[in-house]
Amino acid sequence: MGLRMTKQNQLDKLKQECNSCQKCVLGSTRNNIVFSDGSAEAKILLIGEAPGADEDATGTPFVGRAGKLLTKLIEDCGFSRKDDFYICNTVKCRPPENRVPTNEEKALCEKYLLEQIKIVNPKVIVLCGATSAKSFLGDKIKISQIRGQWYKLFDGIDATVIFHPSYLLRNHSEAEGSPRWLTKQDLYKIKKISSR
Ligand code: URA
Repeated sequence: MGLRMTKQNQLDKLKQECNSCQKCVLGSTRNNIVFSDGSAEAKILLIGEAPGADEDATGTPFVGRAGKLLTKLIEDCGFSRKDDFYICNTVKCRPPENRVPTNEEKALCEKYLLEQIKIVNPKVIVLCGATSAKSFLGDKIKISQIRGQWYKLFDGIDATVIFHPSYLLRNHSEAEGSPRWLTKQDLYKIKKISSR
């Protein structure tokens, strides 16, 4: 009988496979695969859009300006980014000039994302921004209309949509009803649902 692999072992194996991926054009321009950050044991799995320049340089998602804001919001709401979240993106390589990844790129990269979700098996999936929300909820969605709503994905995993931190970087207000304020309300609700 073989030894059972831990979640981390399974993710490490998948990352190794991803490291040599050349299925789409992004493979030829990337400096690093940006596979994930956070804990394999987290109850919350957050999916962003795609790596930017800082992420491509370091191999870690959400470490640039938008990432720092995301981390601050997460911590302001009482979470630990490192322990409470598993963080990844719809595509693992940086699109040149930070353009939105194409449907073809997303489709070719989907295998890795679906496998990450299966291994981590989170209680809550957070779709961060329009690109990631569209991957799961369809191309027609409007982020301002669906953020804060809850869905069931796969075999009943609770999922919700939050604003992307790049959008929040352009909207500084923290007043009641502002996008930043709404995002904090969303994070509090995520906390409640993930700890049920
Ligand atoms: N924006 C994203 O969507 N993902 C990252 O990893 C960084 C910025």
